[in-house]
Amino acid sequence: MYRPSPYESLQTLYSTDRELSPKERLSSAYAPLLSWYRKNKRDLPWRGTTDAYRIWISEIMLQQTRVEAVKPYYFRFMEHFPTVEALADAPEEELLKCWEGLGYYSRARNLKKAAEIITEQYGGKLPASREALLSLPGIGSYTAGAIASIAYGIPAPAVDGNVLRVLSRVTGSREDILKQSVKRKMEELVLTVIREGEAGDFNQALIETGAVICVPNGEPLCGECPFYTVCAACAQGLTGEIPVKSPKKKRKIEEKTVLLLEYREKIAIRKRKDDGLLASLYEFINLPGKLSGKEATALAGEKAIIRKLPDAKHIFSHTEWHMNGYLILADELAEEDLDGLLARCGQDDTPVLFVNLEELKETYPIPNAFMAYKKYLEQQYGGDALEKHDISV
Ligand code: ADE
Repeated sequence: MYRPSPYESLQTLYSTDRELSPKERLSSAYAPLLSWYRKNKRDLPWRGTTDAYRIWISEIMLQQTRVEAVKPYYFRFMEHFPTVEALADAPEEELLKCWEGLGYYSRARNLKKAAEIITEQYGGKLPASREALLSLPGIGSYTAGAIASIAYGIPAPAVDGNVLRVLSRVTGSREDILKQSVKRKMEELVLTVIREGEAGDFNQALIETGAVICVPNGEPLCGECPFYTVCAACAQGLTGEIPVKSPKKKRKIEEKTVLLLEYREKIAIRKRKDDGLLASLYEFINLPGKLSGKEATALAGEKAIIRKLPDAKHIFSHTEWHMNGYLILADELAEEDLDGLLARCGQDDTPVLFVNLEELKETYPIPNAFMAYKKYLEQQYGGDALEKHDISV
């Protein structure tokens, strides 16, 4: 029996002079896209499964960071919380520790909340419906579509920022991809072509194209792209202009001084407030504003030894922290003097914990914002506990 090659339909379309509609562009690339994906897809730990729980966790993690960075988190998470029930029962601190470094800790908390609902209302199995998935905490349109299509083959769109880039280039759309209305339009476009059963591969093929061909930074590899023959941006040399993104608001800059206060082989940390940025995580003592060396020395007092630490910067979505830091070695202080020092550090009623390096590494979730200072401690002290070291003023 004669079977047309996937590219034949493209040649037919191409032979007409008129402008192709978005749907024609996408549907005519459907077969080439699927066969390209099936041949070239990366072997990723969450790809060999249709287990909705695993797909859910991987998709939430992939919203945080790059594939390579997600892998160790994914393995560790699955070891700690292998089932929905285990996640529902997770002690919050253990969960946050597992998430440490991924950022957006509310996502980890929402995972647990959703796991509790799935355990209570769905017998521990993620519901096989986009709408039911959407009703769970932390599951939005993209994640619901990804789980529904990859785990259950349901023809639901999974359009994230990377897929928006691919689709706006393919269709030549100059609309702002940060607008919800544009995202909805692209989801509707995907819905017109996606097919039952193949939906998971189709969505992942779009995701994969965005990750390895139609890349977010730098030149896209159009010559290798399954959309090559139908992509409007490629044909018109517009990949530098599309996608269009409205400029983001400037971030607020906050200056801080981080103090690594060492006392008798332990470091001072405290728990952050239960709401707001980095809620309930642990942090090193820090003060608003950048203290000069003189100010920091005065604050540390005569009996303490002080050393300047490198500056660090951390970027959140709406704020940037610009930090300087000091190591304060307070071994010579009596305990009453230590309380005085903590009071001068602006320490309010929040209890301060003194922990060793092992506890810092294994037990207390410290957000990435403080990573430069945590790394400093790890490099400086290496072993299990903080050890005495020689230091000059
Ligand atoms: N980014 C978001 N979802 C992904 C997936 N399933 N595979 C690879 N990269 C992704």
